[in-house]
Amino acid sequence: MHTFHLPAGADRAEIYTELLATAQALVEGEPDLVANLANLAACLKQLPGVSWAGFYRQVGDDLVLGPFQGKLACTRIGPGKGVCGAAAARREALVVPAVDAFPGHIACDADSRSEVVVPIVRGERLLGVIDLDSDRPANFDDRDAEHLTRLAALVAGLAWPA
Ligand code: SME
Repeated sequence: MHTFHLPAGADRAEIYTELLATAQALVEGEPDLVANLANLAACLKQLPGVSWAGFYRQVGDDLVLGPFQGKLACTRIGPGKGVCGAAAARREALVVPAVDAFPGHIACDADSRSEVVVPIVRGERLLGVIDLDSDRPANFDDRDAEHLTRLAALVAGLAWPA
């Protein structure tokens, strides 16, 4: 059994180093994608200020809700819709410090104030996105996106269906 403990007072770099190490250990030797994404969502939910953490998978044209932790979320996001759809379409991490100011933001949780979405890409294929929400304004910045992009690379290496 693995654990993910954030040491009190840990800075962002330490937190993500711990997250990456835990993620690596969690997925090692476990071939089941859903199980792995579920445990990774549990880790991501523990990051400072995170009120919702989870995965959307690209299924056909849509992003479809995957394992997550937090309140009920939109099940299906159409192409280019919301922050998730925009990040997926651009294949680029998006940091949104104020969700109300993002045109087309999809408000699943009325308490959400800021968001970061990172695409999960393998070669030419977009597999899905990692989505983190916060009930605090400007909870995420480019450094979060950078660290989460490393996690996305690890997630891209998991056993996604063809
Ligand atoms: N806010 C997202 C939708 C997903 S929820 O935040 C979980 C968006 O605009 O794409």
